[in-house]
Amino acid sequence: MQSIVVEGKNRLSGEIKVQGAKNSALPILAATVLCDGKTVLTNCPALTDVFSAERILTHLGCRCGFSDNTATVENDGIKNPHIPDTLMSEMRSSIIFLGAILGKTGECSLSFPGGCELGARPIDIHLAALRRMGVSISEEFGMLRCQVSKELHGAKLTLPFPSVGATENIILAATLAKGETVIRNAAREPEIRDVAEFLNKCGADISGAGESTVVIHGVKKLHACEHRIMPDRIVAATYLSAAAITGGEVTLTDIRAEDIESVMPPFEEMGCYTYISPDSVYIKAPKKIKRVKKIITLPHPGFPTDAQAILMAVLCRAEGTSVISENIFESRYKHVPQLVRMGADIKVEGKAAIVGGVSKLFGTTVSATDLRGGAALVIAGLAAEGTTTVTDIAHIDRGYDEIERALSSLGGKVSRI
Ligand code: UD1
Repeated sequence: MQSIVVEGKNRLSGEIKVQGAKNSALPILAATVLCDGKTVLTNCPALTDVFSAERILTHLGCRCGFSDNTATVENDGIKNPHIPDTLMSEMRSSIIFLGAILGKTGECSLSFPGGCELGARPIDIHLAALRRMGVSISEEFGMLRCQVSKELHGAKLTLPFPSVGATENIILAATLAKGETVIRNAAREPEIRDVAEFLNKCGADISGAGESTVVIHGVKKLHACEHRIMPDRIVAATYLSAAAITGGEVTLTDIRAEDIESVMPPFEEMGCYTYISPDSVYIKAPKKIKRVKKIITLPHPGFPTDAQAILMAVLCRAEGTSVISENIFESRYKHVPQLVRMGADIKVEGKAAIVGGVSKLFGTTVSATDLRGGAALVIAGLAAEGTTTVTDIAHIDRGYDEIERALSSLGGKVSRI
């Protein structure tokens, strides 16, 4: 089993390019099910979740390749619209394949994605929408069996919550469906816009993606195309946090300014100087960072839940007490006991976490409980006394393309053993 070892107390400085976005790459890989021919995705991060998505595509009958951050998918027909449990359980977001497979073949069976490290992850919004579009769905022994009854058709849908995955699944199903689909209260995350841009290049007719009403007119066919995966705004927030907690000075390149706007205010409140250009961001952190009064996670354009654990790690070392309110997932504080093992002063009360700044964190062995929680421990390790060993890093590898290499390139002493 691999671990990440961090020697603390090294100030980070320099310039780093931000990797492509996991949350854009995964739904776009699912979208290739709809496209005839060879899709080429550049700036695709080398992540275990990306390789899991490629394994699912291979199982469905596509030919996949990956080298130098370029993923290729050759689709000359879906031969098998069923995803076995072994592949489904490799990656929670594999449910995103459902809309695409139904759109292409009219049938699909896959296992129900169970609860995970962030708590229960229901898919009721996805299923209710697909039913409205003409899909009959039955559940037996943890398997979902889905069949288009007569034809897949458009529908006017209002989501009870702007779920990212449900919005993407509906877009994927609607692209080749008959007629018009309107999604109201759609999720507005920038990755959804990237998925729609990809599909539109392939011949789809989608407007409003990234806004709260998305309109999709079904088309008969999609052809493959070449697309560059957008930059990862959560990875950008991670490297900004690494700079902030070490009193560092870092420039991130290949970001999209509008996409990172929602994570910037806490860094400014901490006393960091930041300068944002359309495709880069510079941060210079003070020796001692200030507390942040309140961070409230919300659907985009609110502060992203995926950056919550990472910012919490930084706030452990701030002057004063900060409050975090987690409103997206029911159980997204599993990293807290691990940070406490390092000397952090954090109390969780329901949705709130109260983070008292401490003058020192101490290196020890801690375990990554989930993807972003694991990254938070690496960030905390950068400012801790001595050596921090983060175990269970398979979680981290789901979303970071060699985090140890990235942080080392900025002067951090971070290695994989
Ligand atoms: C996506 C992201 C994930 C991010 C999350 C919220 C990907 C691959 N993953 O996950 O990194 O943390 O958005 O920004 O893009 N919900 C329901 N019923 C549903 C669907 C969702 O109750 O049918 C609830 C979930 O339990 C959760 C909340 O809605 O509490 C948000 O979920 P959702 O936006 O769907 O997140 P994901 O698409 O799973």
